[in-house]
Amino acid sequence: MADLDSGASALPRASGERDAPLEGWIRVCASEALAEGGDGVRFELPASRAGSPAPQAFAVRYDGRVHAWLNRCAHVPVELDWMPGKFFDESGLLLICATHGATYEPDTGRCVGGPCRGKALEPVTVCERDGIIWADPGPQGRSS
Ligand code: FES
Repeated sequence: MADLDSGASALPRASGERDAPLEGWIRVCASEALAEGGDGVRFELPASRAGSPAPQAFAVRYDGRVHAWLNRCAHVPVELDWMPGKFFDESGLLLICATHGATYEPDTGRCVGGPCRGKALEPVTVCERDGIIWADPGPQGRSS
C-alpha cells in the first residue's frame, strides 16, 4: 500500500522536527495542491548511493486519499507523465504511461491495461497531516 492516510494520526511525531510525522520524512506539498483525479506532484527521493541518480516519485489524490509511486513505468523504466504532473488519463480514474499507454490503478498501482499487465508501480509511503503531504524517504533517507 502506498499511503498511510487513514493511520496518519497514529504516527508518532519526531522530536526536533515540528511538522514531520517521522524524522527525515520529505515534505511533498500542501494538501490543496492535489485535487481529486487532477495533476500529480512530482518529488525526489534520496539517492541510495552517492553519485547515483535520485529516484523520482509522484503523488496523486484518488478517492479522497493520497497515493504515491515511483515515477517509473513497470514496462520500461521511463517516467509516466507526458507533461509534468499529468498522470491521470482523461477519465481521472486511471494513471497512464505516456510512452505506450499502460494504465494503472491509482490506489493499488496495479497495471490493468497495456504492455505491463500484471505488474505494478513501486509504492512510496506517504501520509497527510495538518494540510501537508509527507513521504517516507526510505532507509537511505532516514539514515542520512
Ligand atoms: S514505457 Fe510505459 S507503457 Fe511502455
